[in-house]
Amino acid sequence: MALLAWLKRGCSRLRLLWGLLSVLATLSSLGFLIRGGHEELLSHSLPYFLPRGGGHPISPPLLPSTDAFLLLPTPEACSPKAPSLLVMVVSAPGHVAQRQAIRSTWGESRWAGELTVRTFFALGLPQEPSLQAALEREAAEHRDLVQGRFLDSYGNLTLKTLALMGWAATRCPGALFLVKVDDDVFLNLPGLAEELGRLPALIPAYLGRIHWRVWPSRDPHSRHHVPHGLYPGGAFPPYCSGTAYVLSGNAVPALLGAARDVPLVPLEDVFVGLCARRVGIVPQHLARMSGGAHLPPDPCCYRGVLLSVHRVAPEEMVTVWDSAAPNEETCRLWQRALGSLRCKALAWVAAL
Ligand SMILES: *[C@@H]1O[C@H](CO)[C@@H](O)[C@H](O)[C@H]1NC(C)=O
Repeated sequence: MALLAWLKRGCSRLRLLWGLLSVLATLSSLGFLIRGGHEELLSHSLPYFLPRGGGHPISPPLLPSTDAFLLLPTPEACSPKAPSLLVMVVSAPGHVAQRQAIRSTWGESRWAGELTVRTFFALGLPQEPSLQAALEREAAEHRDLVQGRFLDSYGNLTLKTLALMGWAATRCPGALFLVKVDDDVFLNLPGLAEELGRLPALIPAYLGRIHWRVWPSRDPHSRHHVPHGLYPGGAFPPYCSGTAYVLSGNAVPALLGAARDVPLVPLEDVFVGLCARRVGIVPQHLARMSGGAHLPPDPCCYRGVLLSVHRVAPEEMVTVWDSAAPNEETCRLWQRALGSLRCKALAWVAAL
C-alpha cells in the first residue's frame, strides 16, 4: 500500500516536472520567434544556398575625384580619428525639417555603447538652383553636409551611395562601420552598437533587412524600372533594404572596387547587393530592423526593441526622443517580453 502511494506521488511529481519543462520550452521557442531568431538563423544558412559568389579579382576602389564634392564637413569631424560608427543619412536638398529632426534627436549622439558616433547628411545638387544658397548657410552652421556634384534625383540615388561611400573611404577612413539610412528613419544607436559588438572582427560585414528573390521591374513607367539591357538577369541576389543597412569599414573599399564592374542599376540597395555578390560578401539579416510599415511613436519599439524604424515623420522623431530620459528603461517588462511581436501588432493596428 505504502509503495503504491509513493509511486503515485512520484508519478505526479514527474508529471509536474514534465509540465514545467514543456511550459519552459514553449516560452523559450516563443521568445526565439519574437526576437526574430528564426529569420536570423535562415540568414546564417544563406551562404550554403547561394551560388558561389566572389572569386573575382579585386579591383581598386572607385573613388571620387578631388572636385567631386561641393559642400563638405570640417576635416576635424574625422581627424585625428574617424568615428567608430559613421552614419550617413541620405537626404534631399529640400528636406530641411527631416535633417533638423535627426540633428535634434538620435543624430546628436556622440557615443553609442563603446563606439564613437558622427552623423552626416549626403545630398546632391538641388533641381532649383536658388536652394543652393540655403544649403550653404545650413552647411556653414552645422558642418554636417556632404554634397556631391550630381543632380539630386530619384534616378541618381545610386550615384549618391557611391558618393557617400567614396567620401567615407577617402575623407573619413578608419571607421569601423558605415551606416546608411534614409532621412525618415529613426535609428536606435545604442541597440545597433550592441548588435555590432557581437560581430566577429575583420570579416567584411553587410547587414540589414534582407530582400529575397526580388525580380527586376520591366515596366518602363515604374519607379523601379530596370531595363533589360542594363541588367539582363533574373531575380536579384539577396540585398539589404536601402532604408537602413550597415557595412563594416573594410567592406566599403571592396564594394567600391566591385562597383567598377557592376551595372549602374538605379536602385541603390540592389546595386550594393550586386557589388557584395561580386566580391563574395554575404548579407546578414537583422530581424530588429523594422520593415516598411508605419509604426506609431512608441518609445519601447523605437528605442528598446527595434534597431531602426522607417517612415517616421520629423515630429514623431522628436516625440519619441523626448519621451524618455537618457538611461531610463524605455520598455516595461511585459513590453520587452512581447518584443517585436507587439511592435508589429501596433503597426498593423495603426494601418487599419
Ligand atoms: C544624374 O546626375 C547627372 C549629373 O548632374 C545628370 O546629368 C543626370 O541627368 C542625373 N540623372 C538623373 C536620372 O537624374
